[in-house]
Amino acid sequence: MSTATLDAPAPTPEAPIQSFTVTFIIRRFDPEVDAEPRWQDFDVEMYPTDRVLDALHKVKWEQDGSLTFRRSCAHGICGSDAMRINGRNRLACKTLIKDLDISKPIYVEAIKGLPLEKDLIVDMEPFFDSFKDVQPFLIANSKPEKGKERTQSIAERARFDDTTKCILCAACTSSCPVFWTDGQYFGPAAIVNAHRFIFDSRDEGSETRLDILNDKEGVWRCRTTFNCTEACPRGIQVTQAIAEVKQAIMRGKA
Ligand code: SF4
Ligand code: F3S
Ligand code: FES
Repeated sequence: MSTATLDAPAPTPEAPIQSFTVTFIIRRFDPEVDAEPRWQDFDVEMYPTDRVLDALHKVKWEQDGSLTFRRSCAHGICGSDAMRINGRNRLACKTLIKDLDISKPIYVEAIKGLPLEKDLIVDMEPFFDSFKDVQPFLIANSKPEKGKERTQSIAERARFDDTTKCILCAACTSSCPVFWTDGQYFGPAAIVNAHRFIFDSRDEGSETRLDILNDKEGVWRCRTTFNCTEACPRGIQVTQAIAEVKQAIMRGKA
C-alpha cells in the first residue's frame, strides 16, 4: 500500500496502479444500542476506479460486519443505495473514489427526511406511499379498435421520455428542504412519476392525478430550490417536470 496521487502516470506491467488509504467517516446508528447516531472512522485501501460502494463492502466484509446498507444491482439501476456522500445525495455504486477529494475524509450518512432505521438504511415506506398515491400506472379505460394497439407518435413518446428514467432512489425527495420540514409533501419523485403518466397520450387518468397534486401537500409546496434536479443520478430535469405539472393544473389538463 502507498499514498498515491490520483493523477499518477498510466499503469505499466512494471508500475501497476497503486492503491492508497482513504478515510471514511460513516454515521452509524443501531437502535438497539445507540440513543443517537454517532460517527465512526474506517481506513480503507482503495484504487481510483473503486466506488464508494466498494469501500462500504470492504468495511463490512473486512472490518465490521455490522455495517448496514442497502444495495442490489451495483450499476445504478435498482436505486437501492442512495446516500449522502460528503453532504450530497448520490448513489454509492455510481460514485468513483477518483471523483472525490481523498486528501480529506469522506463522510457517508443516510439520506435525510425519512425515518432512520439502522446505519445507512432509512424507512422508505413514506416515500413509496406518496409514489403510490399518484397512481403511477397507465389508466386507459377505452379499448383500442379490435386488433389494434394503443399507438403513439415519436413526438408523443418524447413528451414524457425524461421522466421514464426514474429508478425511485429517493435522492431527489430526500434532498428537498420542503420535504425535510414537512414529510407530508408528496416530494419530487412522486411528482416525476405522476408526470410520466400525465403527459402520456395513451393515458386517461391525468385529471385524477392533477387533482391529487393540486393539494396543499402537492406541487404548490415546491419552492423551486433545484436540490432535486442536482441530486438526480439519472439526470432527470425534476424541477422542470414539477413546473410542467403546475402548468397543467393551471390549464386544467395535460
Ligand atoms: Fe431518483 Fe431521479 Fe427518480 Fe428522484 S427522479 S427518485 S432522484 S431517479
Ligand atoms: Fe424541493 Fe425540488 Fe421543489 S428540491 S422545493 S421539489 S425544486
Ligand atoms: Fe443499484 Fe446502486 S446498487 S443503484
